[in-house]
Amino acid sequence: MPARLIDGKAIAESTRADIARRVGEFTARTGVRPCLVAVLTGDDPASAVYVKNKHTACEQAGFGTRVIRLPAQATQQELLDTVAGLNADPTVHGILVQLPLPSHLSAQPVLDAVHPLKDVDCFHPENVGRLAQGRARFLPCTPAGVQRLLGAAGVETSGRHVVVLGRSDIVGKPLALMLMQRGPGANATVTVCHSQTRNLPGLTQTADILVAAIGVPRFVTAEMVAPGATVIDVGINRVDGRLVGDVDFGPVCEVAGAITPVPGGVGPMTITLLLENTLTAARLQVG
Ligand SMILES: NC(=O)c1ccc[n+]([C@@H]2O[C@H](COP(=O)([O-])OP(=O)(O)OC[C@H]3O[C@@H](n4cnc5c(N)ncnc54)[C@H](OP(=O)(O)O)[C@@H]3O)[C@@H](O)[C@H]2O)c1
Repeated sequence: MPARLIDGKAIAESTRADIARRVGEFTARTGVRPCLVAVLTGDDPASAVYVKNKHTACEQAGFGTRVIRLPAQATQQELLDTVAGLNADPTVHGILVQLPLPSHLSAQPVLDAVHPLKDVDCFHPENVGRLAQGRARFLPCTPAGVQRLLGAAGVETSGRHVVVLGRSDIVGKPLALMLMQRGPGANATVTVCHSQTRNLPGLTQTADILVAAIGVPRFVTAEMVAPGATVIDVGINRVDGRLVGDVDFGPVCEVAGAITPVPGGVGPMTITLLLENTLTAARLQVG
């Protein structure tokens, strides 16, 4: 029987409606409109699309939102000064530095410069440390989106074996941390795989939940998946002008119990969690 489809688009829509309601309540109570500012440096077309999507989602959910555009030749200092200005602006609650930056700039000092209470991407070392200790202020957007999808789809994580493919600071590593924590939506036994992992199919075949976040189109084949497993595809790859995930969707559907599509799976949840974090940031700053 083909796998049940986990509809990230529908789950994201209902979550965003709930966030919009809470934004309205917050604004009515405090007189403050939560505001997210994105800093877009250079003219990478994919980054421009991501920023536009985030901007539109903010507007639709009742947030204030702005995009600051810096030229591709911007200096490290100009970027740091921009972040410092936003840190000091009480009308700005969340700051998003769109990555990747042009190659002459380094991202880490810029991400470190974002005020921890405005760090809605959860990249600041203070917030990553809090996440590791199980007392997160913000949850990183894509991993939190994955966790929400699992919850909304009724997929139990407690006691289950989750195999995460990929160990990036943005997806794989924080997701592994989150799923192994004590608590609801977690309590999993987690294995993290990467490019140096030996016998990767042998490990993926033991997964109750398999998360692919490596950026290799259709890497996960049906032979790598245990019958009935839940497969979450984080990958976004462009092949012949089409978006495809890290999972070979059609054949894997015949084996898996549940699966997320690309597009329409994890992607919409990432933006949704960014909205959630911006509301949290406003609450933390306004009280
Ligand atoms: N849906 C969303 O909202 C969303 C958000 C973020 C990212 N993404 C997508 O998710 C994918 C991963 O993104 P990322 O930022 O985490 O990527 P990344 O920083 O490039 O990290 C890729 C990870 O995959 C591992 N890897 C690469 N090839 C592998 C292979 N053949 N076998 C095993 N492991 C392999 C790498 O291992 P090493 O560490 O050993 O190099 C690394 O840990 C991309 O397609 C990206 O576009 C989607």
